[in-house]
Amino acid sequence: QIAAASGHTVVLVDQSDEILKKSAKGIEESLKRVTKKKFADKPEAGAEFIKKTLKNLTTSTDAAAVVHSTDLVIEAIVENLEVKNELFKRLDKFAPEHTIFASNTSSLQITNMANSTTRQDRFGGLHFFNPVPMMKLVEVIKTPMTSQETFESLMDFSKAVGKSPVSCKDTPGFIVNRLLVPYMMEAVRLFERGDASKEDIDVAMKLGAGYPMGPFELLDYVGLDTSKYIIDGWHSLEPNNPLFAPSPLLNKLVAEKKLGKKTGEGFYKYK
Ligand code: 3HC
Repeated sequence: QIAAASGHTVVLVDQSDEILKKSAKGIEESLKRVTKKKFADKPEAGAEFIKKTLKNLTTSTDAAAVVHSTDLVIEAIVENLEVKNELFKRLDKFAPEHTIFASNTSSLQITNMANSTTRQDRFGGLHFFNPVPMMKLVEVIKTPMTSQETFESLMDFSKAVGKSPVSCKDTPGFIVNRLLVPYMMEAVRLFERGDASKEDIDVAMKLGAGYPMGPFELLDYVGLDTSKYIIDGWHSLEPNNPLFAPSPLLNKLVAEKKLGKKTGEGFYKYK
Protein backbone atom coordinates (compact mmCIF):
# COMPACT_ATOMS: atom_id res chain seq x y z
CA GLN A 1 0.00 0.00 0.00
CA ILE A 2 2.62 2.55 1.02
CA ALA A 3 4.89 1.62 -1.89
CA ALA A 4 2.03 1.96 -4.38
CA ALA A 5 0.87 5.21 -2.75
CA SER A 6 4.35 6.68 -3.20
CA GLY A 7 4.41 5.93 -6.95
CA HIS A 8 6.13 2.54 -7.08
CA THR A 9 4.85 -0.25 -9.31
CA VAL A 10 3.89 -3.09 -6.98
CA VAL A 11 2.97 -6.72 -7.55
CA LEU A 12 1.34 -8.18 -4.46
CA VAL A 13 1.82 -11.95 -4.33
CA ASP A 14 -0.07 -14.42 -2.17
CA GLN A 15 -1.16 -18.04 -2.25
CA SER A 16 -4.69 -17.75 -3.64
CA ASP A 17 -6.93 -15.34 -5.52
CA GLU A 18 -9.28 -15.41 -2.56
CA ILE A 19 -6.59 -14.07 -0.19
CA LEU A 20 -5.50 -11.51 -2.79
CA LYS A 21 -9.07 -10.26 -3.15
CA LYS A 22 -9.28 -9.85 0.62
CA SER A 23 -5.92 -8.04 0.68
CA ALA A 24 -6.92 -5.67 -2.14
CA LYS A 25 -10.13 -4.86 -0.25
CA GLY A 26 -8.15 -4.24 2.95
CA ILE A 27 -5.78 -1.91 1.12
CA GLU A 28 -8.69 0.03 -0.38
CA GLU A 29 -10.31 0.41 3.06
CA SER A 30 -7.01 1.53 4.59
CA LEU A 31 -6.43 4.00 1.72
CA LYS A 32 -9.86 5.49 2.40
CA ARG A 33 -8.88 6.06 6.06
CA VAL A 34 -5.59 7.69 5.09
CA THR A 35 -7.22 9.79 2.37
CA LYS A 36 -10.02 11.03 4.62
CA LYS A 37 -7.40 12.77 6.75
CA LYS A 38 -4.86 13.73 4.07
CA PHE A 39 -7.42 15.22 1.68
CA ALA A 40 -10.02 16.33 4.26
CA ASP A 41 -11.24 19.36 2.26
CA LYS A 42 -10.41 17.99 -1.19
CA PRO A 43 -12.49 14.81 -1.69
CA GLU A 44 -11.86 14.83 -5.45
CA ALA A 45 -8.09 14.88 -4.99
CA GLY A 46 -8.53 12.08 -2.44
CA ALA A 47 -10.49 9.94 -4.91
CA GLU A 48 -7.78 10.60 -7.53
CA PHE A 49 -5.06 9.56 -5.04
CA ILE A 50 -6.85 6.26 -4.34
CA LYS A 51 -7.36 5.62 -8.06
CA LYS A 52 -3.70 6.35 -8.86
CA THR A 53 -2.46 4.17 -5.97
CA LEU A 54 -4.63 1.21 -6.96
CA LYS A 55 -3.40 1.58 -10.56
CA ASN A 56 0.16 0.97 -9.31
CA LEU A 57 -0.90 -2.27 -7.70
CA THR A 58 -1.45 -5.62 -9.41
CA THR A 59 -1.69 -9.07 -7.87
CA SER A 60 -0.38 -12.53 -8.68
CA THR A 61 -0.30 -16.01 -7.19
CA ASP A 62 2.96 -16.91 -8.97
CA ALA A 63 5.99 -15.18 -7.43
CA ALA A 64 8.50 -16.86 -9.73
CA ALA A 65 6.58 -15.66 -12.81
CA VAL A 66 6.51 -11.98 -11.79
CA VAL A 67 9.88 -11.57 -10.06
CA HIS A 68 11.70 -10.94 -13.39
CA SER A 69 10.35 -7.37 -13.47
CA THR A 70 11.31 -6.37 -9.91
CA ASP A 71 14.08 -4.24 -8.44
CA LEU A 72 13.13 -5.14 -4.88
CA VAL A 73 11.40 -8.18 -3.35
CA ILE A 74 9.92 -7.72 0.14
CA GLU A 75 9.00 -11.04 1.72
CA ALA A 76 6.33 -11.02 4.45
CA ILE A 77 5.20 -14.66 4.59
CA VAL A 78 4.84 -17.00 7.59
CA GLU A 79 7.53 -16.69 10.30
CA ASN A 80 9.14 -20.02 9.46
CA LEU A 81 12.78 -20.00 8.40
CA GLU A 82 12.58 -23.15 6.28
CA VAL A 83 9.59 -21.87 4.32
CA LYS A 84 11.21 -18.46 3.84
CA ASN A 85 14.50 -20.00 2.69
CA GLU A 86 12.71 -22.22 0.21
CA LEU A 87 10.92 -19.19 -1.27
CA PHE A 88 14.09 -17.10 -1.50
CA LYS A 89 16.02 -19.98 -3.06
CA ARG A 90 13.36 -20.35 -5.76
CA LEU A 91 13.06 -16.62 -6.46
CA ASP A 92 16.85 -16.29 -6.66
CA LYS A 93 16.77 -18.41 -9.82
CA PHE A 94 14.22 -16.21 -11.58
CA ALA A 95 15.08 -12.68 -10.34
CA PRO A 96 17.34 -10.34 -12.30
CA GLU A 97 20.94 -9.98 -11.16
CA HIS A 98 20.45 -6.49 -9.68
CA THR A 99 17.28 -7.30 -7.68
CA ILE A 100 17.54 -6.78 -3.94
CA PHE A 101 15.84 -9.28 -1.63
CA ALA A 102 14.53 -8.14 1.76
CA SER A 103 12.65 -9.86 4.55
CA ASN A 104 10.07 -8.23 6.83
CA THR A 105 10.74 -10.87 9.50
CA SER A 106 10.10 -9.83 13.12
CA SER A 107 12.74 -11.99 14.69
CA LEU A 108 14.38 -14.53 12.37
CA GLN A 109 17.97 -14.25 11.21
CA ILE A 110 18.41 -12.36 7.93
CA THR A 111 21.90 -13.87 7.44
CA ASN A 112 20.42 -17.36 7.39
CA MET A 113 17.94 -16.35 4.65
CA ALA A 114 20.63 -14.55 2.62
CA ASN A 115 22.66 -17.77 2.67
CA SER A 116 19.83 -19.62 0.92
CA THR A 117 20.52 -17.43 -2.14
CA THR A 118 23.49 -16.54 -4.31
CA ARG A 119 22.96 -12.79 -3.69
CA GLN A 120 24.15 -12.39 -0.08
CA ASP A 121 25.43 -8.87 -0.88
CA ARG A 122 22.01 -7.87 -2.25
CA PHE A 123 20.07 -9.08 0.78
CA GLY A 124 18.88 -7.21 3.89
CA GLY A 125 16.03 -6.72 6.33
CA LEU A 126 13.17 -4.22 5.96
CA HIS A 127 11.08 -4.44 9.09
CA PHE A 128 7.82 -2.46 9.15
CA PHE A 129 5.42 -1.93 12.08
CA ASN A 130 1.68 -2.46 12.54
CA PRO A 131 -0.30 -0.61 11.25
CA VAL A 132 2.19 0.13 8.47
CA PRO A 133 0.31 3.10 6.96
CA MET A 134 0.46 4.87 10.35
CA MET A 135 3.75 3.78 11.91
CA LYS A 136 6.62 5.96 10.71
CA LEU A 137 9.45 3.57 11.49
CA VAL A 138 11.24 0.99 9.40
CA GLU A 139 14.26 -0.97 10.63
CA VAL A 140 16.87 -1.58 7.94
CA ILE A 141 18.96 -4.63 8.75
CA LYS A 142 22.47 -5.06 7.44
CA THR A 143 24.09 -8.48 7.66
CA PRO A 144 27.90 -8.82 7.54
CA MET A 145 27.45 -9.66 3.83
CA THR A 146 25.05 -6.83 2.84
CA SER A 147 26.90 -4.41 0.54
CA GLN A 148 26.98 -0.71 1.34
CA GLU A 149 25.17 -0.06 -1.96
CA THR A 150 22.33 -2.42 -1.01
CA PHE A 151 22.10 -0.89 2.46
CA GLU A 152 21.85 2.60 0.98
CA SER A 153 19.21 1.46 -1.53
CA LEU A 154 17.11 0.03 1.32
CA MET A 155 17.50 3.27 3.31
CA ASP A 156 16.53 5.31 0.22
CA PHE A 157 13.53 3.08 -0.48
CA SER A 158 12.35 3.47 3.13
CA LYS A 159 12.50 7.26 2.80
CA ALA A 160 10.80 7.13 -0.62
CA VAL A 161 7.79 5.36 0.95
CA GLY A 162 7.59 8.09 3.60
CA LYS A 163 9.20 6.26 6.52
CA SER A 164 12.01 7.18 8.91
CA PRO A 165 14.58 4.38 8.72
CA VAL A 166 16.90 3.28 11.52
CA SER A 167 19.62 0.69 11.05
CA CYS A 168 20.49 -2.31 13.17
CA LYS A 169 22.77 -5.33 12.95
CA ASP A 170 21.25 -8.76 12.37
CA THR A 171 20.57 -9.47 16.05
CA PRO A 172 17.43 -11.16 17.55
CA GLY A 173 14.50 -8.72 17.47
CA PHE A 174 16.60 -5.88 16.03
CA ILE A 175 15.76 -2.73 18.07
CA VAL A 176 12.01 -2.50 18.62
CA ASN A 177 11.06 -6.14 19.18
CA ARG A 178 14.17 -6.78 21.31
CA LEU A 179 12.76 -4.21 23.75
CA LEU A 180 9.03 -4.52 23.09
CA VAL A 181 8.55 -8.31 23.20
CA PRO A 182 10.25 -8.87 26.61
CA TYR A 183 8.16 -5.92 27.94
CA MET A 184 4.92 -7.51 26.69
CA MET A 185 5.96 -10.91 28.09
CA GLU A 186 6.72 -9.28 31.46
CA ALA A 187 3.19 -7.85 31.39
CA VAL A 188 1.76 -11.34 30.83
CA ARG A 189 3.87 -12.69 33.70
CA LEU A 190 2.68 -9.86 35.99
CA PHE A 191 -0.91 -10.86 35.13
CA GLU A 192 -0.18 -14.61 35.47
CA ARG A 193 1.17 -14.01 38.99
CA GLY A 194 -2.08 -12.22 39.83
CA ASP A 195 -0.28 -8.97 40.69
CA ALA A 196 -2.70 -6.86 38.62
CA SER A 197 -5.58 -7.31 36.17
CA LYS A 198 -4.85 -7.06 32.44
CA GLU A 199 -7.22 -4.11 32.23
CA ASP A 200 -5.29 -2.24 34.95
CA ILE A 201 -1.93 -3.09 33.38
CA ASP A 202 -3.16 -1.66 30.05
CA VAL A 203 -4.53 1.49 31.68
CA ALA A 204 -1.30 1.87 33.67
CA MET A 205 0.99 1.74 30.66
CA LYS A 206 -1.24 4.08 28.64
CA LEU A 207 -1.67 6.69 31.35
CA GLY A 208 1.58 6.13 33.24
CA ALA A 209 4.01 5.68 30.37
CA GLY A 210 2.14 7.42 27.54
CA TYR A 211 1.92 4.33 25.31
CA PRO A 212 -0.92 4.47 22.73
CA MET A 213 -1.94 0.88 23.59
CA GLY A 214 -1.45 -1.23 26.70
CA PRO A 215 0.63 -4.46 26.40
CA PHE A 216 -2.43 -6.77 26.22
CA GLU A 217 -4.14 -4.59 23.61
CA LEU A 218 -0.91 -4.58 21.63
CA LEU A 219 -0.42 -8.36 21.94
CA ASP A 220 -3.96 -8.88 20.60
CA TYR A 221 -3.26 -6.36 17.82
CA VAL A 222 0.05 -7.93 16.73
CA GLY A 223 -1.36 -11.48 17.05
CA LEU A 224 -0.68 -13.94 19.85
CA ASP A 225 0.65 -16.53 17.39
CA THR A 226 3.23 -14.04 16.07
CA SER A 227 4.28 -13.15 19.61
CA LYS A 228 4.57 -16.85 20.50
CA TYR A 229 6.70 -17.57 17.40
CA ILE A 230 9.06 -14.79 18.42
CA ILE A 231 9.44 -15.79 22.06
CA ASP A 232 9.73 -19.53 21.31
CA GLY A 233 12.45 -18.84 18.73
CA TRP A 234 14.47 -16.71 21.15
CA HIS A 235 13.93 -19.19 23.98
CA SER A 236 15.49 -21.94 21.88
CA LEU A 237 18.46 -19.66 21.14
CA GLU A 238 18.93 -18.61 24.80
CA PRO A 239 17.08 -21.09 27.08
CA ASN A 240 18.50 -19.54 30.27
CA ASN A 241 17.47 -15.94 29.51
CA PRO A 242 14.44 -15.23 31.78
CA LEU A 243 13.29 -12.43 29.45
CA PHE A 244 12.75 -15.04 26.74
CA ALA A 245 10.87 -17.56 28.94
CA PRO A 246 7.63 -18.85 27.33
CA SER A 247 4.32 -18.06 29.04
CA PRO A 248 1.83 -20.86 29.89
CA LEU A 249 -1.07 -18.43 29.43
CA LEU A 250 0.08 -17.26 26.01
CA ASN A 251 0.61 -20.89 24.94
CA LYS A 252 -2.89 -21.83 26.17
CA LEU A 253 -4.58 -19.00 24.23
CA VAL A 254 -2.70 -19.89 21.04
CA ALA A 255 -3.59 -23.59 21.45
CA GLU A 256 -7.26 -22.51 21.74
CA LYS A 257 -6.85 -20.52 18.49
CA LYS A 258 -7.49 -17.29 20.40
CA LEU A 259 -4.95 -15.31 18.41
CA GLY A 260 -6.13 -11.77 19.12
CA LYS A 261 -8.08 -9.25 17.10
CA LYS A 262 -7.84 -11.23 13.85
CA THR A 263 -9.74 -14.23 15.29
CA GLY A 264 -12.17 -12.19 17.39
CA GLU A 265 -10.61 -13.19 20.71
CA GLY A 266 -7.23 -13.08 22.43
CA PHE A 267 -6.71 -11.59 25.86
CA TYR A 268 -9.86 -9.58 25.06
CA LYS A 269 -13.01 -10.35 23.05
CA TYR A 270 -13.77 -8.39 19.85
CA LYS A 271 -17.10 -8.13 18.08
N1 3HC B 1 -4.69 2.01 7.84
C1 3HC B 1 -4.85 3.32 7.73
N2 3HC B 1 -5.07 4.15 8.76
C2 3HC B 1 -5.16 3.59 9.97
C3 3HC B 1 -5.00 2.21 10.18
C4 3HC B 1 -4.76 1.40 9.04
N3 3HC B 1 -4.59 0.08 9.12
N4 3HC B 1 -5.11 1.97 11.50
C5 3HC B 1 -5.33 3.14 12.11
N5 3HC B 1 -5.36 4.12 11.18
C6 3HC B 1 -5.57 5.54 11.40
C7 3HC B 1 -6.99 5.89 11.69
O1 3HC B 1 -7.73 6.09 10.51
C8 3HC B 1 -6.88 7.16 12.47
O2 3HC B 1 -6.75 8.28 11.63
P1 3HC B 1 -7.43 9.67 12.07
O3 3HC B 1 -6.57 10.15 13.21
O4 3HC B 1 -7.31 10.48 10.84
O5 3HC B 1 -8.82 9.35 12.45
C9 3HC B 1 -5.55 7.01 13.21
O6 3HC B 1 -4.87 5.93 12.59
C10 3HC B 1 -5.76 6.70 14.63
O7 3HC B 1 -6.57 5.53 14.71
P2 3HC B 1 -7.74 5.32 15.74
O8 3HC B 1 -8.39 6.64 16.08
O9 3HC B 1 -8.61 4.20 15.27
O10 3HC B 1 -7.03 4.74 17.02
P3 3HC B 1 -5.77 5.26 17.80
O11 3HC B 1 -5.74 6.72 17.92
O12 3HC B 1 -5.74 4.41 19.02
O13 3HC B 1 -4.53 4.83 16.91
C11 3HC B 1 -2.90 3.22 16.43
C12 3HC B 1 -4.38 3.55 16.43
C13 3HC B 1 -2.16 4.07 15.39
C14 3HC B 1 -2.81 1.75 16.01
C15 3HC B 1 -2.30 3.50 17.86
O14 3HC B 1 -3.09 2.88 18.81
C16 3HC B 1 -0.87 3.01 18.01
O15 3HC B 1 0.07 3.67 17.62
N6 3HC B 1 -0.71 1.82 18.64
C17 3HC B 1 0.59 1.20 18.87
C18 3HC B 1 0.97 0.41 17.66
C19 3HC B 1 2.30 -0.27 17.84
O16 3HC B 1 2.93 -0.26 18.88
N7 3HC B 1 2.74 -0.95 16.75
C20 3HC B 1 3.96 -1.72 16.77
C21 3HC B 1 3.60 -3.14 16.97
S1 3HC B 1 5.03 -4.18 16.94
C22 3HC B 1 5.19 -4.61 15.36
O17 3HC B 1 4.44 -4.28 14.51
C23 3HC B 1 6.40 -5.43 15.05
C24 3HC B 1 6.03 -6.80 14.59
O18 3HC B 1 7.23 -7.39 14.10
C25 3HC B 1 5.49 -7.70 15.66
